[in-house]
Amino acid sequence: MNRLLVTAGPTHEAIDEVRYVANRSSGRMGIALAEAARDAGWSVTLLLGPVAVDPPTGVTVEDYVSTADLEALLDREFLKCDVLIMAAAVADYRPSTAAKGKLARKGENLVLTLEPTPDLVARCAARRKPHQRIIGFALEEESTLETRATEKLQRKNLDALVANPISTLEAKNVSASVYFPDGRRISPSLSDSGERGVEKSAFAKWLMDLVNAEFPLST
Ligand code: CTP
Repeated sequence: MNRLLVTAGPTHEAIDEVRYVANRSSGRMGIALAEAARDAGWSVTLLLGPVAVDPPTGVTVEDYVSTADLEALLDREFLKCDVLIMAAAVADYRPSTAAKGKLARKGENLVLTLEPTPDLVARCAARRKPHQRIIGFALEEESTLETRATEKLQRKNLDALVANPISTLEAKNVSASVYFPDGRRISPSLSDSGERGVEKSAFAKWLMDLVNAEFPLST
C-alpha cells in the first residue's frame, strides 16, 4: 500500500501563554486530501494543526500546534512516506521568545520581535529518498501567481506545486492549478470546475488521481 503524508491547517506561534500569532487556514483542503487518498486505498498519515473541523476517520492523525511541533513530526514521519503533500499554512515568522504567563497591558507600544521559521517542506526535499515525491501548496495574488509558483517550485525543490489565488481564502471551493518543474500547468477540466472553482472534496479526488498518474508508485 502506498503511503501518503499530508499536513493541514495553520500554525499557532505563542506570544505568551495565552496569545498567539496565527493565520486563517481552515485545514479543510488537507483533510479533504487525506479522505480522498484513504478512499483511493492509500495508507494516510495526517499531521493536523489547530482547526475547528473534525479529523477524518480511517487515517492516522497526529496533532501539532506550532511550526516547531510540525517540524518534529516531519522529522519522525517524512522518511516513511512515498508522497508528502504539504497543505499546511506554516508561519513564515514567529515570536523569537514566548513570554511566561500573560503579558500585562501597559501604556506604551508593545514591540514583538519575529524570527523567520525554517522552511519545513524545503528541509524535507533536501533529505528525501530518490523515490519520494513532494507537493507543496501556495496562496498567491492572481497577477503574480504563475511567476511565484514557478519560483517556489525551484527554490523548494518540489515535484509539484498547487497554487491558489488569494481570493479563494476560506472559500468552500478552490480554483487551483498544479505547476510542474517541466513548465506544465494543469487544472481541473471545465466540466468539473464552475466559475468559482470546484468543491474541495472534488478537487482533492482530482489531485489524488493526478498524483497517481504523474508519480506512479509500486502497488
Ligand atoms: N512552507 C513550509 N515551511 C514554512 C513556510 C512554508 O514548509 N516555514 C510550505 C507550505 O506548507 C507550502 C509551501 O511551503 O507547501 C509554500 O508556502 P508559502 O507560504 O507560499 O511559501 P513561502 O516560502 O513562505 O513563500 P512566501 O511567504 O514568500 O510567499
